[in-house]
Amino acid sequence: MAAVLASALMLPACRQNTGSETQETADTTTNQPTATMKVTRESLGTLTGNAEVEMYTLRNTSGATVKITNYGAIVTSIQMPDKNGNFGEVVLGFGNVKDYLTNDYLSSGPYFGAVVGRYGNRIAKGRFSLEGQQYTLATNNGPNHLHGGLKGFDKKVWQAQKIQGDTTAKLHLMYRSPDGEEGYPGTLQTSITYTLTDNNELRIEYQATTDKPTIVNLTNHSYFNLAQDSAANVLDHQVTINAGRYVAVDKTLIPTGQLPSVKGTPMDFTTPHAIGERIGKVEGGYDHTWVFDRTGSDGDLFLGARVVAPASGRVMEVLTDQPGVQFYTGNFLNGTFRGHGGRTYVKNYGFCLETQHFPDSPNQPGFPSVVLRPGTSYQTTTVYRFSVQQ
Ligand code: GLA
Repeated sequence: MAAVLASALMLPACRQNTGSETQETADTTTNQPTATMKVTRESLGTLTGNAEVEMYTLRNTSGATVKITNYGAIVTSIQMPDKNGNFGEVVLGFGNVKDYLTNDYLSSGPYFGAVVGRYGNRIAKGRFSLEGQQYTLATNNGPNHLHGGLKGFDKKVWQAQKIQGDTTAKLHLMYRSPDGEEGYPGTLQTSITYTLTDNNELRIEYQATTDKPTIVNLTNHSYFNLAQDSAANVLDHQVTINAGRYVAVDKTLIPTGQLPSVKGTPMDFTTPHAIGERIGKVEGGYDHTWVFDRTGSDGDLFLGARVVAPASGRVMEVLTDQPGVQFYTGNFLNGTFRGHGGRTYVKNYGFCLETQHFPDSPNQPGFPSVVLRPGTSYQTTTVYRFSVQQ
């Protein structure tokens, strides 16, 4: 069934919205509902010491909005309609960028909405070797390296450029990661393009080049809750993941190298299941990588996952070209943070679908490669598409 869904929804990765695009430099737009796509910019000053921190709002013609700050390339807010046409928040985050900079936030590390890298997810003991050379990264998650280290891409100020078209609103973010940053080899020139379309899709395009062999695995760490007005958590959300296997992990969430079948286990989301139905049978809750049943050729996007919130009727589909997805059910949220609408982010208040390569791939010869070499380009696309069903 999942495979059928996937092939029915196959989309070309290079699908581009048409329409003349103009690059804007002046802040002449307002944040009002509009008949055209809008990208607006607000300066927040030098919150982190030197570079200017900004907030951008992408708005489509129906009034859906996505807010992104150039600090950490963080998606701070996504407002989408429910089945009655009422717009509401669908991600976890803060209205004030300063709230992403507090000691509490940084020490607990939920990574709300951020781009994580250079290596999203874990690398065992922070060590890997590449072309005969050993590299050591920070161990910031028990014995392991997680999400790029102590000051990963989620804590960098990116250089932003807004691009407004007739049918799309885009934000282009660039960051040049110096050779040796956080222990990773090579200068990595990275860019992320966020596009809001008139079909209520948030498209994320990642691109990177290097001047030495290195490793890359970028993803977005948004937490979704598609029914924030009525749901205490996301346990009633119905999830489908188009994956017949998952990445088995040890107690520290490092892969064993096995990719067992989901059949007959609480990991089987090949047909829709409520998150809460079997979560109690998974120690700690869901925090694993699923291995997509890829049916498309390279360059095609396929439907990796679909989530429905019964209370609001909101639907989110995840289309990607990546080999896997980390499905994380906010197991470490503990009520410390209050975000949009004053809501308290308790355990399981949000879920993440972080499209990516498998954890610890640099140390797992059997996993798809995450090596990037000079002269080649890392390019990947993920689309979060929102709609409703009655
Ligand atoms: C990822 C990890 C989780 C957790 C979150 C951030 O999804 O897999 O274990 O670290 O990031 O809290």
